[in-house]
This record gives sequence, C-alpha cells and structure tokens, in this order.
Amino acid sequence: MESWLRGPAYNCSGPCPTRLHSICHCRGVEAADISAPTFGGRQNRTGHQSVGTQRAVRRMATHFVLNTGAKIPSVGLGTWQSDNGLVGDAVYAAVKAGYRHIDCAQAYNNEKEVGFGLKKVLDEGIVKREDLFITSKLWNTNHAPEDVPVALDGTLKNLQTDYVDLYLAYSPLGSPGTMMVKAGAVLEHPVVVSAAEKLGKTPAQVALRWGIQMGHSVLPKSTDEERIRANFDVYDWSIPDELFAKFSEIEQEKLIRAGFFVDPEGVFKSIEEFWDGEI
Ligand SMILES: NC(=O)c1ccc[n+]([C@@H]2O[C@H](COP(=O)([O-])OP(=O)(O)OC[C@H]3O[C@@H](n4cnc5c(N)ncnc54)[C@H](OP(=O)(O)O)[C@@H]3O)[C@@H](O)[C@H]2O)c1
Repeated sequence: MESWLRGPAYNCSGPCPTRLHSICHCRGVEAADISAPTFGGRQNRTGHQSVGTQRAVRRMATHFVLNTGAKIPSVGLGTWQSDNGLVGDAVYAAVKAGYRHIDCAQAYNNEKEVGFGLKKVLDEGIVKREDLFITSKLWNTNHAPEDVPVALDGTLKNLQTDYVDLYLAYSPLGSPGTMMVKAGAVLEHPVVVSAAEKLGKTPAQVALRWGIQMGHSVLPKSTDEERIRANFDVYDWSIPDELFAKFSEIEQEKLIRAGFFVDPEGVFKSIEEFWDGEI
C-alpha cells in the first residue's frame, strides 16, 4: 500500500483515516508542513522570522528538510492553470533549468501531460526519478478510505511514476492562516518593486526569494520558458535584513473568509464566530 511512498515511514500520532501516511491531515505530516524547515529560529509577532533564522535560511536555501527526513526543494514548478499543450514542455524546461520539485494535482486536469514532460526528462537522462520531488493532491471528493487508492493510482498512472514524494489532501477550508497582500498585485507592490530595483532583480524574483527566506517552499507557475528560468534564479543572492524588514509592513488580509460555513442555524453563526473574532 505504501510502496509508492519513498523514504522513511511517516509517524502519525493518531490513527490515520486513510492509512496513506503522507497525507497532510495526519498529524505527523502537519508538522512537516512545507513551511516548517528544520533549522529552527523564531518568528516575531508579525509572523516574520528573526534575523538569526533569516541568516540560516540564506545559508541553506535550496531545500528544506521535513520532519520525516525528506528533502523538499525550496522552489517547485506550479502547474495549476497550466494549459494542456504547454505544461509538458514547461516541466521539461523547468527540470532542464534546475527545478527538482514539481507541484501537481489530479484536479488541475493536466497530470497526464505533466507525466509526458517527466517521462521526457527521465528518458533523456537529465535527472533520475530519485532526484525529483513530485507532489500531487487528493481532491475533496475522494477522501473516503476506499476512494483514496483509486485516486492515487490514477495520479501515478498519469504521471508515469510509481510513487509521489508528497500526497496532500485538499481541505475544503484551506489553511485558516492563509494570507494575501491586501488590495493589489504582489508584483506591483511598492515594497516589492523598490526592493527589486535596489537588488537589480525582478519583482517576481524578489517575491519568490522572500518566500524562501521566510522558510517556505515556493511554487511559481509558468509555462513561459524565460520566466521559468528567471523564477529559478533565486539562490546566489538574498534580500538583506533592512529590505527584508520592509516586507513585514505590507498589509495582509485573509485569503478566504469562509462565508460558506456560516449559517444562522449552524455551528458558526457569523464570520466573527468562525474566526474567533480574528477577522
Ligand atoms: N493559488 C492556490 O490556491 C494554489 C493552491 C494549491 C496549489 N497551488 C500551487 O501553487 C502554484 C502557484 O499558484 P499561484 O496561484 O500562486 O500562481 P503564481 O505562480 O503566483 O502565478 C502564476 C501567474 O504568474 C505568471 N508568472 C509566472 N512567473 C512570472 C514572472 N516571473 N513574472 C511575471 N509573471 C509571472 C504566470 O504566467 P505565465 O505562465 O504566462 O508565465 C501565471 O499567470 C500553482 O500552480 C499550484 O501548483 C496553488
């Protein structure tokens, strides 16, 4: 059952409802969330990391080590909304450019073509399977234990691989803590644009590098070969402390309000109740 999962067994702290131990709703893997690198360090009240942590991130930013011991590369190619007809070439271009992490999902309706791209890089000997970190995801409607292996088998078949490195279960809610920049596109935000100008980088590179320095594995989606390459050029430079600090001034808001969970007759009678007043 778990032969598709490489590396050490996951250490669920409670019964795993699906018995697929890399699924993110198992507590053992929650702790291995991609935003939880092992080098430690404290976050300040704004959720930003201490200078010591930032320095540590800078020293070892190419991957993070999960609590399972698996290494997740800090930059992965996003494939959501990548069109069939383009995504296979995007995967090929990304791996050639140095990406070793591909973020997929059955729900993106393009895993079969992602699989063609993966097969090509493997057939051409550009990388070996074990050099890649492939993520896929279980869609909401497949959470019943009997549905999980069927969904996973479909994904493995489409990706032309016999295991994935990470299999995440979609939650209907997403992460309650998920934030986004308030009012406006990230790449046009003055803090990002100004840092990019000072560092001689593009706003996209600065945004991605900020994510890595925060300890997150970032997943830029692109089907444009030039942007795919540029998005990977985030390793031999870093955002210095004084510029990095400016990012904590960017106002954020919750990515989802979860209004669909509010019902005057239900458990949560208002948005404020759902979020414990933190909205
Ligand atoms: N957002 C979510 O809710 C979500 C949920 C689960 C997983 N993910 C994963 O995360 C990945 C990223 O998702 P995202 O929504 O955050 O998208 P994103 O990667 O922030 O943005 C993608 C958009 O940015 C453009 N782009 C890429 N590189 C660029 C650059 N250097 N300069 C300017 N524009 C650039 C892309 O166009 P081109 O393709 O034309 O370059 C595309 O239109 C997804 O593909 C998926 O794998 C996302």
